[in-house]
Amino acid sequence: MHDFRYIGGRLYCEQVPVETLVRKHGTPLYVYSQATLTEHFKRLDAALDPLPHSICFAVKSNSNLAVLRTMANLGSGFDIVSEGELRRVIAAGGDPRTCVFAGVGKSEDEISFALSRDIYCFNVESEPELERIDRIAARLRKKAPIAVRVNPNIDALTHAKITTGTYENKFGIAFERVEQVYVRASRLKHLRLRGVQMHIGSQLTEVKPFEQAVAKVAPLAARLGRRFGLEFFSLGGGLGIVYRPALDSGDASWWTSRAARNILTPESYAAAVLPHLRSLDLRILIEPGRFVSGNAGLLISRIEYIKQTGRKTFVIVDAAMNDLIRPAFYDSFHEILPVHQHNGPLVPSDVVGPICESGDCFCKDRPLPRLKAGESLAIFSAGAYGFVMASNYNSRGLAAEIMVHGRRAAVVNRRQKLSEIWEREQIPAWLKKR
Ligand code: LLP
Repeated sequence: MHDFRYIGGRLYCEQVPVETLVRKHGTPLYVYSQATLTEHFKRLDAALDPLPHSICFAVKSNSNLAVLRTMANLGSGFDIVSEGELRRVIAAGGDPRTCVFAGVGKSEDEISFALSRDIYCFNVESEPELERIDRIAARLRKKAPIAVRVNPNIDALTHAKITTGTYENKFGIAFERVEQVYVRASRLKHLRLRGVQMHIGSQLTEVKPFEQAVAKVAPLAARLGRRFGLEFFSLGGGLGIVYRPALDSGDASWWTSRAARNILTPESYAAAVLPHLRSLDLRILIEPGRFVSGNAGLLISRIEYIKQTGRKTFVIVDAAMNDLIRPAFYDSFHEILPVHQHNGPLVPSDVVGPICESGDCFCKDRPLPRLKAGESLAIFSAGAYGFVMASNYNSRGLAAEIMVHGRRAAVVNRRQKLSEIWEREQIPAWLKKR
């Protein structure tokens, strides 16, 4: 379920017409629905209810402070991958003691900072990292809580750039080696073995790979749990969302239509994994990012020009790959609909940005209504891996972000001023002005 719909031909986010946000704040503009974030979180939480569990929201998917505060208020913990993300969680009022820290390249400084803030667990990705954490914990006279990330060597059947659970990938420790690594870790005096973790990839729309991975790793988790007195088993994130169609009736059929199309839902996910976990006596953690934030965000963009060439219609908009890189980087599909609903014929159109690369394209030959310059378009399902992956490429300023809550809307990140793009740059003294 999500909270974007047409009412009287105008697109609304909850009870706010998107066009009023455009008039007030300009474009490109990210718009988040707090109700959608909340609904997705709660639905997942309820599905896992049969077992003791915690949800650690993947901060990398959307790290806006208002989004993090929403999550913290719902009782979420956080999956972080850098000191910056941990500091964001703290700045948003989240509790570092609910954070799990993933990533293959944690630096000395990052580990020290996270230890000093008493995070819940380091998800360790290599043996050298174990030794580094032990050394730093000794220096700080602490015991560092750790889990080993298991690489189960199972193909998540998703895009190659977001597959993580096979031996082709840099992530985790090979399944066959994990038990020896726990034995080694148990001999390091400044570590406390707290859990087991895995994560096989992102945007999985089928439950099968999750089920296979859990079925493979659960018996190992049970054994390690008993042997080393562990507390938790984290299944990672990766629950996929529906990118098309982005809009249906916006009521319960959002979920039933997913189920009918055999697309993963919180309930089908839970039904697939929970039977393998019941006898484990471990708290279950999950680290969803996209599932919670993906459908909760739009990127709104204004049409600058309509350009007709021989056989093509180019809709040139003011958002670009620097604002939302997913279509350019992963060839991903995002639904695009006008903020003012059209009736009438559809024409194959390419929606493109102003950046000087052919890859700066949101869709190709997509049937869209006959659009006009000056209209606004909504690019859907941009709440995850949208603004967080934005850059200043072509010296374009970062978009503004808005959070909607019922009838209310607030700027949760103001538009970047152009001079802010280069304010940290300096010209060396020897480069005198000629
Ligand atoms: N846990 C770990 C260890 C992860 O590496 C990730 C995502 C997550 C949880 C959250 O995954 P999610 O539930 O959001 O699928 N930029 C890409 C996605 C990269 C995902 C990286 N890791 C995209 O736009 O599709």
